[in-house]
Amino acid sequence: MKSLLKTLAVVAVAVPAVAFAAITGSKHDLSSTNTGVDVHSSGTNPTDQICIFCHAPHKAASQALIWNHTAGTVNGFSGGQTVAGTSLPTAVLPPSKACLNCHDGTVAIGDVNSTTTANGGAGVLTVTTVANHTLAEKLIGYALVGNGTNLDGNHPVSIPYAGAIYNAKASGVSSGNAATDYTGITNSCAGSPSGICISAAGGTLPLFAAQAGDTGGVECGSCHDVHNKLNNTYFLRVTATGSAICLACHKK
Ligand code: HEC
Ligand code: HEC
Ligand code: HEC
Ligand code: HEC
Repeated sequence: MKSLLKTLAVVAVAVPAVAFAAITGSKHDLSSTNTGVDVHSSGTNPTDQICIFCHAPHKAASQALIWNHTAGTVNGFSGGQTVAGTSLPTAVLPPSKACLNCHDGTVAIGDVNSTTTANGGAGVLTVTTVANHTLAEKLIGYALVGNGTNLDGNHPVSIPYAGAIYNAKASGVSSGNAATDYTGITNSCAGSPSGICISAAGGTLPLFAAQAGDTGGVECGSCHDVHNKLNNTYFLRVTATGSAICLACHKK
């Protein structure tokens, strides 16, 4: 009986570990306990919380997404149009701007409005990184903003998806026909903030309705799942192997 109780106790301890959400232990788990990743909280003002780097329940920096991180200085593309004639936004919408807070490399990763739920005060959480890699290099990667000024050189975001009405205007895609160049939209898509998505082998790519009147557009979160390490490398919703993620939207 004693040993049975012991076994039960072990099981009871083990279960919550299994139930952990998929952000736990990922590169977006910047808590002090996640020592397995290069960038995590440590030093003088560490936190064992995960969400606090991005969302705070109180005293967040802004209401949208109860966003807690200090904004960076990169807002969008320098202007101009895509080859199909869609305007590239000089200010991307909140879901993509949120990523740029850290990924434009202009603000410290730990620069948040509310450091903990207990003190709710403004402050900077200390994060650390490995020595052989500068933080800027790691966050900007080879894909993102290199000049600290704009988003030029990156796949368009905060743009309409072909066939969807976005930002109160129809898609600017010249074909005007989702069936020709782009995969059709799936309606009633669970887990998509707009309710619509692109269904692909191995995953779905949600479209965002980032402001009133929007029906569905492409944001960083269409291709990446910020909370989910269980997806493919780079938090991708569909694998980049064979460019599957590109072929999910583009009929090429
Ligand atoms: C590294 C930044 C980051 C961290 C850490 C983070 N989030 Fe988010 N979260 C975002 C962004 C960005 C969005 C906007 C939607 C998107 O782009 O997927 C979002 C959206 C959300 C949403 C609304 C949309 C949805 O997906 O349901 C909820 C709820 C949410 N986060 C909860 C959490 C919780 C709970 C935690 C901690 C366990 C957490 N987030 C940690 C960045 C983060
Ligand atoms: C979620 C759907 C989606 C995915 C996934 C996607 N694209 Fe796109 N892509 C679009 C949309 C929408 C546009 C904008 C079309 C327009 O309005 O001009 C676009 C535009 C482009 C353009 C034209 C850019 C310009 O400025 O003229 C290229 C090239 C491109 N995508 C390549 C890619 C590649 C390569 C991948 C994979 C890494 C990819 N796309 C993944 C939806 C997607
Ligand atoms: C609070 C700061 C913060 C925010 C906000 C944030 N990230 Fe990150 N992101 C990081 C850090 C730190 C890393 C890990 C860098 C490293 O270890 O090389 C990272 C890594 C990544 C990676 C690479 C993952 C890998 O496996 O190498 C991707 C992709 C990424 N983030 C996308 C996003 C997207 C998309 C958003 C918004 C939806 C976002 N991030 C928001 C801090 C942030
Ligand atoms: C159309 C799809 C798409 C969109 C939209 C998109 N990404 Fe990515 N991203 C990718 C793919 C695919 C990769 C993997 C590239 C590779 O394998 O070389 C990637 C890689 C990354 C990486 C890792 C780069 C590295 O070299 O370490 C980061 C960070 C990242 N994306 C952030 C973002 C942010 C922030 C946004 C919004 C401003 C965004 N992505 C929008 C498809 C996308």
